[in-house]
Amino acid sequence: MPTARTGQNGLGRREVAPDGDDALAVLRQDHETVTGLLEDYEAAQDRMRKAAIADRISRELTIHSTIEAEVFFPRVREAFEDDDNMEQLLAAAELEHDNVMTLIDRLDDALDGGGPDAQTDERIRFLIECVDRHVEIQEGDLFPQIEQAELDLAEIGEALRTRREELQDELA
Ligand SMILES: [Fe+2]
Repeated sequence: MPTARTGQNGLGRREVAPDGDDALAVLRQDHETVTGLLEDYEAAQDRMRKAAIADRISRELTIHSTIEAEVFFPRVREAFEDDDNMEQLLAAAELEHDNVMTLIDRLDDALDGGGPDAQTDERIRFLIECVDRHVEIQEGDLFPQIEQAELDLAEIGEALRTRREELQDELA
């Protein structure tokens, strides 16, 4: 088993897609990580722990949204040129990204302001709804169509992992 597969995020879950995973596996792993962190936040009672988890959620979602926007969506758009159905799906996914990033900004403000508090909890609940929709759009509608297309998912997976590593360094 590769080392990355056994890496933990400190909260009992894997955090990094192993080398060799294709693009969809990388993104599914991200979705799993973020969904798990949101569940951890909901279950946490202690303020310090909530703050630590919220900080991780902010970082993971920022990285995920960025690698999708910079690497994944452009490659898919290119491969599905002139496909109106795919363009609609990508537009819906991008709109959901904007919603997620707006919520992340507010979450960061709350954390900078001494949170987490009841308002932070409320923002996390909105985020859960947004992330659920994001995963539904991508894994339910987008990914199955991409699997049928001629895209080099292994190479895109590599590009996603490379960009992720750069962002992890930047946000460390
Ligand atoms: Fe995603």
